[in-house]
Amino acid sequence: MRVGVLAAWWLVLTGLLVWAASRFQGFPLAAAREAAVADHAFRFLMLMASPVFTLVMAALLYSVLSRRGQGDPPEPPPYVPEHPAVPRVWFALTAALAAYVIYNPGLVGLAEMREVPLSQLLGSSPGGRVRLASLGGAEGDLVVRVRASRWLWQFEYPEQGIAARELVLPVGRRVRFEVTATDIVHSFWVPAFRTKIDAVPNLTTYLHVTPTRTGSFEESVDLRVQCAELCGVGHALMASPVRVLEPEKFDAWVAQQARR
Ligand code: CUA
Repeated sequence: MRVGVLAAWWLVLTGLLVWAASRFQGFPLAAAREAAVADHAFRFLMLMASPVFTLVMAALLYSVLSRRGQGDPPEPPPYVPEHPAVPRVWFALTAALAAYVIYNPGLVGLAEMREVPLSQLLGSSPGGRVRLASLGGAEGDLVVRVRASRWLWQFEYPEQGIAARELVLPVGRRVRFEVTATDIVHSFWVPAFRTKIDAVPNLTTYLHVTPTRTGSFEESVDLRVQCAELCGVGHALMASPVRVLEPEKFDAWVAQQARR
């Protein structure tokens, strides 16, 4: 009977949580192909974690409510030996779940973000050990060099021969960011793209993003380059606006910058 009550609590709480999660609208603006992959992984992991969380909550609620107002027991309760199968089943289940999550959305999502087949993601090094591919798949269409300094961002478009303090991108084109820093470690992060990479002095790190919609910082604060690594008193203010334009407007912007 007790197991039945507990199971009923569990089902009700799981239903409530999944319903609330399905109505959740609090995600930041999603403006890149990579953002959809990240949001899907987030939703999927939330869905997997919900029954585990509600099982613990159901057991807690049941214990609290069923023992309410009874005071201390007159003598310590008798020792009930645990069922030996319970911890084994629990371990096997949680280990299987953890292994599955490493595969999907872990590796599957990473391959999707980098636009490489899963088999290519797990290349083997000369030593024969499996390692993660360090480069981000196919070359990007547009190269943007990002330089971080205390406390500002600089963007250089080597193929176009221009530089800017604002990040302007064409919609629908894959962009390859080559990120570095001039002083200390910063982190290149655009909330609307959901991807982030450290900016490290004397090192170039890479990131690939394909913007999927036009927009600007004025429309959504999620369209900004924000430093995401504590770097001093100006850290929170180390931000630059991002503007995603139609390809023709981007070309016009490039031409306008080149004339200056
Ligand atoms: Cu640069 Cu924080």
